[in-house]
Amino acid sequence: MPERWTPDNWRKKPIQQVPEYPDRQALADVEKQLATFPPLVFAGEARSLKKALAKVANRQAFLLQGGDCAESFAEHGANNIRDFFRMFLQMAVVLTYAAAMPVVKVGRIAGQFAKPRSSPTEKRDGMELPSYRGDIINDNAFTPESRTPDPRRQLDAYRQSAATLNLLRAFAQGGYANLASVRQWMLGFVKDSPQSRRYVELSDRISEALGFMQACGLDLESHPELRTTDFYTSHEALLLGFEESLTRIDSTTGDWYATSGHMLWIGDRTRQYDHAHIEYARGIKNPLGLKCGPSLKADDLLRLIDILNPDNEAGRLTLIGRFGAEKLGEHLPALVRAVKREGRVVLWSCDPMHGNTITSASGYKTRPFDLILKEVRQFFEVHAAEGSYAGGVHLEMTGQNVTECTGGARAISDAELNDRYHTVCDPRLNAEQAIDLAFLLAELLKNERSSKPMPAVAGL
Ligand code: TRP
Ligand code: MN
Repeated sequence: MPERWTPDNWRKKPIQQVPEYPDRQALADVEKQLATFPPLVFAGEARSLKKALAKVANRQAFLLQGGDCAESFAEHGANNIRDFFRMFLQMAVVLTYAAAMPVVKVGRIAGQFAKPRSSPTEKRDGMELPSYRGDIINDNAFTPESRTPDPRRQLDAYRQSAATLNLLRAFAQGGYANLASVRQWMLGFVKDSPQSRRYVELSDRISEALGFMQACGLDLESHPELRTTDFYTSHEALLLGFEESLTRIDSTTGDWYATSGHMLWIGDRTRQYDHAHIEYARGIKNPLGLKCGPSLKADDLLRLIDILNPDNEAGRLTLIGRFGAEKLGEHLPALVRAVKREGRVVLWSCDPMHGNTITSASGYKTRPFDLILKEVRQFFEVHAAEGSYAGGVHLEMTGQNVTECTGGARAISDAELNDRYHTVCDPRLNAEQAIDLAFLLAELLKNERSSKPMPAVAGL
């Protein structure tokens, strides 16, 4: 029998990736204060997302999840959020059209601040300082003051998450996401590219379809689903003190929910089944993600599934593979087979970013766009071969015109990484590369659809 769960149970377990706060009292004070703040999301929303993800697990929808590797305090602003959101809508509409299926939209945003690191310290010119762990913990500048974990940053992260979420909700529900505006979501700097022409063509087809439906007598104004969309938030549940402070009992069901975001995931470095992060995650009712890397064995995965989804509930657990294009073929099939053999209901998603990171000749951490595409293609191939469903993708991307990943339609070269390399963390797809990827996904989804019998349409 698993022991009784409380939001602070994780404190009794071994834990990875914890920052060393020099002032423990200040940390405790901040956590106490956070516990008095309003929740950022409502438990009912997390349940709606779980329902939507259950549809994906049952092959009736597709999951699009993505955003910055890490959000930053310095880049927080309305334009950034708007550009990210419109790029996300463009990708979603491309996929919805191609797959003729709903796309579940989950941002890696409004809470994605804490980063796991491969080493607790960093050395430069003989000086050793704590590693940068994300803006919620410390600052990236290489000085002792900046790198010292400061608990007050958690209050700033809460405030930024609340403001970001507020604007996203306004965009999603307030008219910005209206399908009648499909043309206007295009970003200025993407114009005059092959993707933009493809996108304009698609938006014309959508506008035509809407016009046709209206001519048939359908009153578009009376259909709010054409004007609004459901947009959800997610982040890695890494900084457990922060998460604990925002874990609340839902008064309508009596269940515990994390209220810092709709969906939380556990990273590949912190998924030890008897450690703190898994202990925390098992007790909250939100939909969960689990990152699966090359070191994960089938038996360990099954054990984690037992802990995280003991009732085999559809939509509860999304397995996010991050193997790398060269390794996916070696690792994913065995995991898919084990899950199938045991009859476990999961949603398989593909993170083609984290297994494909290299250091370029010019010294930048980058990701070749070709490898990203290759991992996505192989993900679809493996699932087709195993009779399983390729249900979603998990991307690191930005609406800004950055040069962080090489390749793509504009063929960003190694030397050009220096032009607009803005990330303080991992390299992201820029808007053009992200939309390019959406069109590739659209083709893969269309192929999948044409290999299935057409659904019967009532009355035809
Ligand atoms: N409400 C539907 C959905 O979210 C249709 C829709 C409205 C939509 N605005 C959108 C789809 C923007 C994609 C992008 O799927
Ligand atoms: Mn990352």
